[in-house]
Amino acid sequence: MEQLEAHSLRYSQGGRLLIDTLDLTLKPGEMVALIGPNGAGKSTLLRLLTGFLTPDHGECRLGNRPLDEWPRERLAQRRAVMRQQNPVTFSLPVEAVVAMGRAPWPSADANGIVQQTMALAGCDELAGRDYRQLSGGEQQRVQLARVLAQLWQNGAPRGWLFLDEPTSALDLFWQQQTLRLLHRLSRQHDFSVCAVLHDLNLAALWADRILLLHQGRLVAQGSPQEVMTEATLTRWYQADLRVASRHESDRPVIQLRA
Ligand SMILES: Nc1ncnc2c1ncn2[C@@H]1O[C@H](COP(=O)(O)OP(=O)(O)OP(=O)(O)O)[C@@H](O)[C@H]1O
Ligand SMILES: [Mg+2]
Repeated sequence: MEQLEAHSLRYSQGGRLLIDTLDLTLKPGEMVALIGPNGAGKSTLLRLLTGFLTPDHGECRLGNRPLDEWPRERLAQRRAVMRQQNPVTFSLPVEAVVAMGRAPWPSADANGIVQQTMALAGCDELAGRDYRQLSGGEQQRVQLARVLAQLWQNGAPRGWLFLDEPTSALDLFWQQQTLRLLHRLSRQHDFSVCAVLHDLNLAALWADRILLLHQGRLVAQGSPQEVMTEATLTRWYQADLRVASRHESDRPVIQLRA
């Protein structure tokens, strides 16, 4: 599987520099968490990395080819994006939303794949419901099934999955289920994950690597233990917090102070 690289990315809009000379490499099979305060540029960076925005300077490459030289359909078979918001304006059964993920593929067995990814994402019990009538968390699980369906190939998801705050509407059970699932899939298949997460404890528990973005620049990156220190998080989030971990090898636990 190819790696994804960004070289000297710069992007501005409305006279503001949103991404400032940013370099990064995402390795195949990795689970990466992108963190940072509101407005840091996380969603913008995700759009650049997935080819939905074109940088003013620099480029993104998937494998040995710049993103903008990938044929649209081939790219859609290699990477999928779950956005922060997914509005649907008309009545649509859940299965139809998930089946939209199969658009880049010739019609082979969309139905079977839809059933499998709905079961994986824990939304098989939502079958037949109107998407617009689902709760926020239920809609988020359906969107996860949709992007898994988009990357489904020979019985498993393959390629790159980008998710923008995929757990923001989920309860504790589904936060755990979702991150366990993504982690397991990244271990078992040619499947890589890059997720924007605001919940630093979820990021600390499941990410192989953390990227910390602040005002459009990558200000820290490394393992959870390396990035999630009291000094680093306090500096970039300006929050009054404490980082606990019993042993140095443990995943850090981030606690806000009352
Ligand atoms: N079209 C635009 N014109 C001008 N500024 C914009 C535009 N779109 C986004 N921005 C600004 O760019 C910055 C980065 O936005 P972005 O959505 O990438 O942040 P984010 O890190 O995803 O934040 P959040 O955690 O709140 O989702 C913000 O300050 C935002 O106001
Ligand atoms: Mg965002």
